[in-house]
Amino acid sequence: MKSIKLVNIKKSFNGEIILDNLNLTIPAGKFFALIGPSGCGKTTILRLIAGFEQPDGGKIFLGDEEITNLPINERHVNTVFQNYALFPHLNVFDNVAYGLRIRGFSRDVIENKVLKMLRTVHLDAHIYKSIAQLSGGQKQRVALARAIINEPEVLLLDEPLTALDPKLRERMLIELIDLQSKLKTTFVYVTHDHFEALTVADQMAIMNSDGEIEQIGKPEQIYEFPVSTFVAKFVGTTNLFKGVVSFADNVAEVSLGLSNLIKVYVPERKSWMVDGKEVFVSIRPEKILISKKEVEGFANKLQGTVEAIIYHGRSTQYNVRLSNDHVIHVFEQNEEHFTKEVIDYGDSVMLYWQKENAVLLER
Ligand SMILES: Nc1ncnc2c1ncn2[C@@H]1O[C@H](COP(=O)(O)OP(=O)(O)OP(=O)(O)O)[C@@H](O)[C@H]1O
Ligand SMILES: [Mg+2]
Repeated sequence: MKSIKLVNIKKSFNGEIILDNLNLTIPAGKFFALIGPSGCGKTTILRLIAGFEQPDGGKIFLGDEEITNLPINERHVNTVFQNYALFPHLNVFDNVAYGLRIRGFSRDVIENKVLKMLRTVHLDAHIYKSIAQLSGGQKQRVALARAIINEPEVLLLDEPLTALDPKLRERMLIELIDLQSKLKTTFVYVTHDHFEALTVADQMAIMNSDGEIEQIGKPEQIYEFPVSTFVAKFVGTTNLFKGVVSFADNVAEVSLGLSNLIKVYVPERKSWMVDGKEVFVSIRPEKILISKKEVEGFANKLQGTVEAIIYHGRSTQYNVRLSNDHVIHVFEQNEEHFTKEVIDYGDSVMLYWQKENAVLLER
């Protein structure tokens, strides 16, 4: 297992700067997810690591070795591309066996390994089909099997599950996590689906549309403590309030133009956190308790009117309009149906949450 390090990477296409002094370290032997909006440069980063593109400036390291100018076949990196890039004239078995044949394994070893791998990706019923006879999802699984069987030091995965239906995608995600923890290969997984990234990653990075890394960290750290409004909105759903802040010790009080202030716990005062500043407060919909009753023990309480109720099966979403016309989204787990408080359209409700469950963000 090897770490990957991109140092001051610059990359332009036809005069348009895509990556400008990008610095990124991907830890060895970890499942690393890279997410960001379409066109931000995710595939470009993978192509630079694999050697299909050359940077205009900067260096790339695999472990301690600089690989910036190394040919593709000397990098010990395998890639599963967005468009699979399979050998159309070979059948499923031969596509997967290809890398092993090149490395000179015996027929028996190849057969064993390939059949085992095809079982893992649930393709054992399609071993001798030609690529043209496969569905999109099956082709994706052949591409995965073909890359993983070579046991590369680094596996780059560019949206490898997009063609799969949701159930199969979930199963393949679990298989991938399992494979990664067995192989200890460094996985770099690119997606624009934040749920996928939160599920698979030991660590994840979020890129913005300018090709910059906004935040890097563990999934729960990023979800619970986003550092910017971009991250808060890109990873999951959130409520953003705009207001003016003042500080008292580790608590920020934000005025929204409502009768009461919003309180946010601030573990450390950053330099931009000064009294009188316009800020955003981010609060996740599932952190909010909705009730028509008075509930004790919450630092924050706002009154509003229910204007939409959307049933999602495992949860229900309430859209609640405040007196300043701001609409807050609340997700409530559908735990117990019969004793649950009944909340209806038009009801006047209270919204409660703890000051530790919100995040203060710079405007
Ligand atoms: N070979 C190329 N020639 C010219 N422009 C390119 C080339 N490859 C990528 N680009 C441009 O670079 C930018 C980043 O592309 P990239 O494929 O890395 O985005 P991405 O983050 O992978 O997007 P998506 O999520 O849609 O796959 C885009 O604006 C794209 O048009
Ligand atoms: Mg891409």
